[in-house]
Amino acid sequence: MPRTAVLATGFHVPPKIVTNDDLAKLMETSDEWIVQRSGIKQRHWVSPGETGATLARDATRKALAQSGLAAKDIDCIIYCTCTPDHFEPGNGVFLQRELGLSDIPAMDVRTQCSGFLYGLSVADAWIRTGQHQCILLVGAEIHSRGLDKTTRGRDTAVLFGDGAGVVILGPTDDPGRGVLSTHVFADGRYAEKLWVDGPGLAHDPFVSHELLDRGFHLPHMEGRDVFKFASVKMPESVQLALKTNHLSTADIKLLVPHQANLRIIEMVQKELGLRDDQVFANIQQYGNTTAASIPIALGEAVDQQRLGRGDLLVLTAFGSGFTWGSAAIRW
Ligand code: ACO
Repeated sequence: MPRTAVLATGFHVPPKIVTNDDLAKLMETSDEWIVQRSGIKQRHWVSPGETGATLARDATRKALAQSGLAAKDIDCIIYCTCTPDHFEPGNGVFLQRELGLSDIPAMDVRTQCSGFLYGLSVADAWIRTGQHQCILLVGAEIHSRGLDKTTRGRDTAVLFGDGAGVVILGPTDDPGRGVLSTHVFADGRYAEKLWVDGPGLAHDPFVSHELLDRGFHLPHMEGRDVFKFASVKMPESVQLALKTNHLSTADIKLLVPHQANLRIIEMVQKELGLRDDQVFANIQQYGNTTAASIPIALGEAVDQQRLGRGDLLVLTAFGSGFTWGSAAIRW
């Protein structure tokens, strides 16, 4: 059975930069508060005309250019997002159309910050079993249009950003390369700890003025619980990835964690006893881009030549659901 190799990476963020000082003009907050609690200095927000599908398209074009592949070589799209452009259909088909493709599967994955790992887990199984040979795995989000940009929503509005990251995956027979393992988990007992309640078909009518007046369409987060669980589950899942592959933290060349909050990343690093050069963080520039954060960070790490052939890359994520997981990859 072949293994799944990352053939190329690519990311794209909207050109518009929003600094913490810009946010302080919209709500009662400060650069000092945001940096101290989250490490975030700026994020990118979309402008009119940009959609999740266009961000993903531009990220895909960069990955295709890096790989030397053409769009028509892609035989499957897995699109991970919690901020779809439309209620239905999923974003995969809109990206497919942007890329001029048809007659290949396009599937959305809705597992929030862990979306990219869930998507990788599915893509890995499909490639190993020979069902697909060239999968475009996407994480793309537009948070800025869905945030409460007033003081009422400041606990979440300052954290999230927009962007897209992709990887192109294909089979390899090289025993020193490829995805070694993926592990993904969920615990729905905590679904309401970080969620957007509506519009949704649990409500009748599914959308109403009352629902909007009560702010059901805005993200609600119990930040401390999210922080507490993330700081435990991310290191735990990294340890599981290492144990499964008979490896140790010393073997890790680079850990690319979901960029939720710099303080969470620091806790994970401390818990695992990793050096600074073993952990990648770019949340300072992009904020939390949920399913896009790992592929954006990975793309940037690749651009900075932080990974060489055969190096051990470990990914981990935690987010709404709660959902979490890890992956170990020989680069
Ligand atoms: N600016 C200024 N003050 C603020 C802001 C803000 N943006 N947001 C909240 N505050 C205030 C609160 O109103 C509160 O004021 P009070 O004491 O007068 O009531 C005070 O700051 C402290 O609020 P807490 O919520 O208790 O602050 P905490 O220290 O817990 O930090 C934070 C909040 C940064 C959200 C933290 O809980 C956190 O990072 N949690 C993790 C959440 C996360 O990363 N979510 C991302 C999505 S999930 C994921 O990706 C894993």
